[in-house]
Amino acid sequence: MTVTVIVGTQWGDEGKGKITDLLARDMDMVVRYQGGNNAGHTVVIKDETFKLHLIPSGIFYPTVTCVIGNGVVIDPAVLVQEVSGLRQRGFNCANLKVSSQAHIIFPYHRDLDAAQEQKHEAGRIGTTNRGIGPCYVDKFNRRGIRVWDFQYPDVFRQKLEWNLKEKSFLLNNFYGFKVDYNADQIIKDYFALYEQFKGLVVEESTVVIGGAIDGNKRILMEGAQGTMLDVDHGTYPYVTSSNPIAGGACSGAGFGPVEIDEVIGVAKAYFTRVGGGPFPTEIEGGMGDQLRERGGEYGTTTGRPRRCGWYDGVVMRHAAKVNGITQLAITKLDVLDSLDKIDVCVAYECEGKRIKDFPTDINRLAKCTPIYESYPGWKEDITKITNYAKLPANARKYLDKLAELSEARVSLISVGAERGQIIKV
Ligand code: IMP
Repeated sequence: MTVTVIVGTQWGDEGKGKITDLLARDMDMVVRYQGGNNAGHTVVIKDETFKLHLIPSGIFYPTVTCVIGNGVVIDPAVLVQEVSGLRQRGFNCANLKVSSQAHIIFPYHRDLDAAQEQKHEAGRIGTTNRGIGPCYVDKFNRRGIRVWDFQYPDVFRQKLEWNLKEKSFLLNNFYGFKVDYNADQIIKDYFALYEQFKGLVVEESTVVIGGAIDGNKRILMEGAQGTMLDVDHGTYPYVTSSNPIAGGACSGAGFGPVEIDEVIGVAKAYFTRVGGGPFPTEIEGGMGDQLRERGGEYGTTTGRPRRCGWYDGVVMRHAAKVNGITQLAITKLDVLDSLDKIDVCVAYECEGKRIKDFPTDINRLAKCTPIYESYPGWKEDITKITNYAKLPANARKYLDKLAELSEARVSLISVGAERGQIIKV
């Protein structure tokens, strides 16, 4: 087994950090391939909680090389803060490498993110306000500034000044968002930050990753966000600005698709979503509130309460197809411990028809209502169970249904936040 990709199958927050942390132990390398500090991966080690936004969740194993790939967008202040936070807690981050092809987030990206959200006539996306979308816009518009550019201060200044001119005009004149950027100050601040992380930068991250692939090393590609937030395959426009799906790992890390051996889809035993946009199985009030409280469903990055709902088999079927999922990791099954009955969406009813293929056009999606089947709860504490056979029969029945709907076998079941609270099937 050489390359394994971990992807979120829902709208992010599936518990990928915990699964990555578990698998990282047996890996040689863990690579983040897209997104930025909009992500929040929580890892609990004994009684300590770590929240990672940019750094791959393999960082806790000193022998595992962790790479922030070319497809990631980096806010240097966040990177420096995250590294120094980990160093203070005993992880020296000597095993971290940063791609020089990754793009840099600047203050104008954050301002544009905020301004667009305020003036979005077509409806707010509910972004994390970290400047992620505007940074990817510059990347694809070929106006971006990459980690590489720190090596050429004159080029850096030239690109920055051009961007400041363009963005100031747009922000002041179109968005009415008053800004007055000082190029010298930004350069001073950013080069001071660069000094603190330049020791981690690798010139050709694809050579580092390719070398590991050629050497038959075990490599984990860690996706952020989730399939339904994918800019192509999610609920557009209520998505993030990158490709969290498994294929995104090829472009965001730089290797060929034939190298991928396993795609592990991480799915919460129920569904959540933060921000705006469609969520067919959302439960408002009552049971939704209960799931939020029991599951601690508040954003790792923004602290926003997450919307909660039932497991959606139509979304999962879509996720299975667009990612090529070979295994499923079900997380937070214990959150359902006390429920009398659990609903599962098995299909949608859409304009009088029963459908199983997810409509990615949100106008069509708005005409769909979930068709549910109910499953009896198991009404017992499963947080200490480590053997699949010991799970209550009703929990196993529920898992069988999730596997059938998701068209993949369940290989991992998480029953609590701690590292050890996991069942390998
Ligand atoms: P952005 O990625 O900040 O542009 O936000 C776009 C959408 O993706 C919003 O609905 C965010 O709430 C959502 N989003 C971005 N990152 C995450 C994540 O890590 N978990 C869950 N939702 C996310």
